[in-house]
Amino acid sequence: MKIIVTGGAGFIGSHITDRLLKEKNQVLCIDNFDNFYDIKEKQKNIESHLKNRDYKLAEGDITDKNFISKTINDFLPEAIIHLAAKTAVRPSINTAELYYHSNVTGTLNLLEAIKDKKNIKFIFTSSSSVYGLNTKVPFEEKDSILNPASPYASTKIAGESLCFSYHYNYKIPVVILRLFSVYGTRQRPDLAVRKFIERICRGEEISVFGDGGTSRDYTHVYDITDGFCRALDYTKKSFDIFNLGNSEPVKLIDLIGIIQKVSGIKPRIRYENFQQGDVPITYADISKARKILGYKPTVELKTGISEMVDWVQGKL
Ligand SMILES: NC(=O)c1ccc[n+]([C@@H]2O[C@H](COP(=O)([O-])OP(=O)(O)OC[C@H]3O[C@@H](n4cnc5c(N)ncnc54)[C@H](O)[C@@H]3O)[C@@H](O)[C@H]2O)c1
Repeated sequence: MKIIVTGGAGFIGSHITDRLLKEKNQVLCIDNFDNFYDIKEKQKNIESHLKNRDYKLAEGDITDKNFISKTINDFLPEAIIHLAAKTAVRPSINTAELYYHSNVTGTLNLLEAIKDKKNIKFIFTSSSSVYGLNTKVPFEEKDSILNPASPYASTKIAGESLCFSYHYNYKIPVVILRLFSVYGTRQRPDLAVRKFIERICRGEEISVFGDGGTSRDYTHVYDITDGFCRALDYTKKSFDIFNLGNSEPVKLIDLIGIIQKVSGIKPRIRYENFQQGDVPITYADISKARKILGYKPTVELKTGISEMVDWVQGKL
């Protein structure tokens, strides 16, 4: 298959690309190598991809309408996996406009570019954050998504609704995947699992916001990648939404305990106030993805953390 992966140089996008290339697909990566974190990490993520003749790189920004339309017209993909976005939750509170530009206008440009083409499948990467301050857990796809706790979350809700209206008006086949706290090697440096492992391995103090009782449904990037591949093959409905999580929320303090066990290093913890934009729990109901896509997370948290500790220690 010919597939465009936007954000393909990032954490999740590079893992998905590994798998797509292994399965002999042709991949075009669109990425602007933004400086949210060290671009050397992104260059390393795609190092092996660049050696593969089935891989092409189009360096550029999804907010550049002409670039997007030309790139899509030249490559003529059968599917687009759209991951490129401004990602972190907390910074979005003070820079909402930038988040909207990248995540909403960027998504709009992609949909505009394919609206008159026949049957280019569009996979939109959404997030558990769309469930916002919902108190009913686990989160189900049919739950309300009307109370996002951050501008980041609202850009994902806006992206989802754009996908629906373009599907409705132009018959674009769409699958929306709502991802829950993805972790694994190459994880972004701003995310808790990596941040904690790095600081603990360096013997530095870690900050825990709140009492450590917030829970996240940590999901390994290999399982997420598998979910994307299943979504690519899914044809039963031309618009659908799936949670991709692990369905086993873990308290922050217990995550730190696992890192301690695996690394053999006792963490020094500093407790700080609960952070604005955070939600108390993410917890995916994955029965729909299990039943319809055959999605089944397999990587145990301890195994995934152990692999990450080795990866981090190799970089220190
Ligand atoms: N990591 C998680 O736990 C998680 C959870 C839920 C949803 N998501 C979503 O998954 C997607 C990938 O996240 P990630 O963790 O791999 O982040 P990442 O930052 O590692 O990857 C995103 C990539 O997109 C690129 N990018 C950003 N803005 C762009 C633009 N305007 N034009 C072109 N490229 C651009 C970046 O350079 C980067 O390589 C994002 O849409 C994110 O919102 C991630």
